[in-house]
Amino acid sequence: MIIETLRLRNFRNYENLSVSFDPKLNVITGRNAQGKTNLLESIVYLSLTRSHRILNEKKLIRDDMPFAEIRCTFSDKEERKELAAIIHPQGKTLIVNRYPVRKSSDFIGLLNVVIFSPDDLYLFNDMPRERRKVMNQEITKISPKYLLSLNRYQNFLKERNSLLKNNRVDETYLDILDEQMIQEQLMIIAMRRNFVQKINHQITGLYRELSEDDIEVKIQYKCCIDDAECTKENLQDLYQNCRTRDLENHVSTAGIHREDIIFRINDKELTQTASQGQKRMVMLAFKMALLSYIRSETGKSPVLLMDDVLSELDLSRQKKLLEMVTDSCQCLITATEIPEHMKRVPYKEFYINQGRLEMPGGIE
Ligand SMILES: Nc1ncnc2c1ncn2[C@@H]1O[C@H](COP(=O)(O)OP(=O)(O)OP(=O)(O)O)[C@@H](O)[C@H]1O
Ligand SMILES: [Mg+2]
Repeated sequence: MIIETLRLRNFRNYENLSVSFDPKLNVITGRNAQGKTNLLESIVYLSLTRSHRILNEKKLIRDDMPFAEIRCTFSDKEERKELAAIIHPQGKTLIVNRYPVRKSSDFIGLLNVVIFSPDDLYLFNDMPRERRKVMNQEITKISPKYLLSLNRYQNFLKERNSLLKNNRVDETYLDILDEQMIQEQLMIIAMRRNFVQKINHQITGLYRELSEDDIEVKIQYKCCIDDAECTKENLQDLYQNCRTRDLENHVSTAGIHREDIIFRINDKELTQTASQGQKRMVMLAFKMALLSYIRSETGKSPVLLMDDVLSELDLSRQKKLLEMVTDSCQCLITATEIPEHMKRVPYKEFYINQGRLEMPGGIE
């Protein structure tokens, strides 16, 4: 996938921006707080229909402006597409090839990006819900059906929890809800298992290639049915076993909404043993494994966004990382300064100053 052009209007600190990118390597430079991350954030928004940094979307609209607009054209193997998102105080409008779409599942997955950001490291110590969010987000990129199933499950879950709040619960209705939730979970668990398996297939090799550190990296999927086969019967058993507890606690205690993924190195929990440097490399290896997962499942290479990541790595790792990614996909990298070793490879530079683009040698 190649992003050809990006246009921003009243997005964050950009009043008006229009850029065309190089199909391979793009470097966005500028001093602190000039808008480098904002630019990448706008692209993430078109990929996920939300920001990777904040929940309150109003903050994305330039101060004192009525709405923000993000537009991009990109090409994938078969065709060229135009995406637009208009963010206003009441919500958002998503547009594909000039036609508004009603459901975000018709929009997510069209433009696939993977972002590397220094904030990624919080994920290891975050609540399970954040790790589930990442897993859901990545699987959605390869299958909009997964998102639909997840949304249906969430609606059933809300209904089940509100039913359980009653003092006298209609158990026949509970049976019906359980059956529906089991149906949705069959697909969700199968896709989560496939996701973890594909990542595990790659992550140790990528880690070792990046860091020359001989450890084993693994993601452990804490599935609601443990290692049991993902069958209707096993899920029915799970619901049967937790029924009394759920009725007592007035909440649904089992199911995919309680699952987690745990990062492990040499079979120990990463958060308990890894050094800061190892955590950083595991996160990079995870992101690279995501690239490969999306590529193998969709047949298309996602666009890689690297926000200020190089400055955290030593020289040899910077070179290694660039070598591993720049060949296979379009990259947009932000940095306050371009590292010396990069000056020998061809790239297009964008210099950002207070939300304005200043190209070296002219303004585009
Ligand atoms: N809604 C908004 N309206 C106007 N300006 C905004 C808005 N949201 C953020 N900004 C401004 O954007 C700037 C931060 O941009 P950004 O996070 O992209 O910086 P950066 O170039 O990535 O910096 P660093 O190198 O420190 O990471 C700040 O000056 C902030 O005030
Ligand atoms: Mg930044």
